[in-house]
Amino acid sequence: MSKLRSDFLWGGAVAAHQLEGGWQEGGKGVSVADVMTAGANGVERRITAGVVPGENYPNHEAIDFYHRYKSDIQLFKELGLKAFRTSIAWTRIFPNGDETTPNEAGLQFYDDLFDELLANGIEPVITLSHFEMPYHLVTEYGGWRDRRVVDFFVRFATTVFTRYKGKVHYWMTFNEINNQANTSGTFALFTNSGIQVGPGENAEALMYQAAHYETVASALAVQIGHQIDPANQIGAMIAMVPIYPASPKPEDIMKAERAMQARYWFADVQCNGRYPAWLRQYQADAGFDLDITLEDLNVLACGTVDYIGFSYYMSMAVQAAPDEPANYKYHEAGDVVENPTVERSEWGWQIDPVGLRYAMNWFKDRYDLPLFIVENGFGAIDDITPDHRVHDPYRVDYLRAHIEQMKLAVEVDGVDLIGYTPWGFIDLVSAGTGQMDKRYGVIYVDKNDAGEGTLDRYKKDSFYWYQNVIKTNGADLDNVVVPD
Ligand code: BG6
Repeated sequence: MSKLRSDFLWGGAVAAHQLEGGWQEGGKGVSVADVMTAGANGVERRITAGVVPGENYPNHEAIDFYHRYKSDIQLFKELGLKAFRTSIAWTRIFPNGDETTPNEAGLQFYDDLFDELLANGIEPVITLSHFEMPYHLVTEYGGWRDRRVVDFFVRFATTVFTRYKGKVHYWMTFNEINNQANTSGTFALFTNSGIQVGPGENAEALMYQAAHYETVASALAVQIGHQIDPANQIGAMIAMVPIYPASPKPEDIMKAERAMQARYWFADVQCNGRYPAWLRQYQADAGFDLDITLEDLNVLACGTVDYIGFSYYMSMAVQAAPDEPANYKYHEAGDVVENPTVERSEWGWQIDPVGLRYAMNWFKDRYDLPLFIVENGFGAIDDITPDHRVHDPYRVDYLRAHIEQMKLAVEVDGVDLIGYTPWGFIDLVSAGTGQMDKRYGVIYVDKNDAGEGTLDRYKKDSFYWYQNVIKTNGADLDNVVVPD
């Protein structure tokens, strides 16, 4: 007998730019995802200056959900989904981001999509900004470095809260807002905040400024969303990668603590409504000239989130350097060391199910808010047989091990958990590499890295397994009955 809530939201998660395609349909504008080329395992995607003819942009077509959502939703219904997490592409609603009037065709698309979901008993769970801000806001305003973008975002949020009142109750403001904490790579700064670091600019200062404006925009959206519909539940969305000390050495433990602070202060602001002391000290000592006003601090205090949505894929470990500076600077690429106690995926992601239970306890102890696991999953290369079967026990093993730990956190540790929506439950374009062949789905989509394929959908073995998990509300994680 499962002790998960009886209304537990078993679901699946995607993001608009990674599955919709239709990048120019219905008046949609160009987003940051539309100017990112395909990469490969170990090869970063390139960001081009606008859409350049002849380049390969995998998000332009993605898996063509824009035209196929009705038949896809029939598959989701067969799977038994109770919730479908996606995002609203900002560029469908405000193609450039700075217009004053929304684009009706874009609004209508999501009306139709949400109606179709609801008619099939599936609750939409919506992220407002998932790595797809209007590209025009990058070229004209420099992305989230500019305070005016707060107003544009608030207008967007207000428009969709109003339009979809009564249809959508679960919202999240910024997907993985804390990904950009790691400024050792500039990729996340672009996808999260539309920022390209110019010569002589300090990436870290830009990140703190952009993230400040985003947390202010998020807090305003929370307040407005509650005014428009008190039934709205509006959450943060944090990329949770627990950072462990590589050893019991006190210096390693201190370094892991500092790294956790640097990676999760975003959650402190969004959940507690205030900056942690260490960070204001750090920013002052670094001499960053940040635009943070008293009014902003008041907004943050009044716009705390209702729940914490988070992604969980892996954990990391760090080790103190012999000459570790007292004023630690977060530098993910340089800091992370191998954790010999866990395995890794083909993409080097450490597989650590216990880390999920740890993370849930960490969130609970620190913020005492309901949690929602809105991403979790295993990216792998799948083989499809001539009769369209995909035997993917590795995916089932990964998901089962994580759901087991999730259940321990609920049943033994008393964590209040709203739901679980595994990432990319239908194969889609990878955010990190732009690949199609890095697959997370329980539903196979016939398209490869070269963009070839029919786009037909097929049920993998893991489809039947997850279907049974949902049917038994998580009580049966072992049986998989694949029809002949
Ligand atoms: C999360 C993002 O970082 O991880 C998703 O919210 C992303 O957009 C997912 O797709 C998996 O990452 P990747 O790089 O394998 O697509």
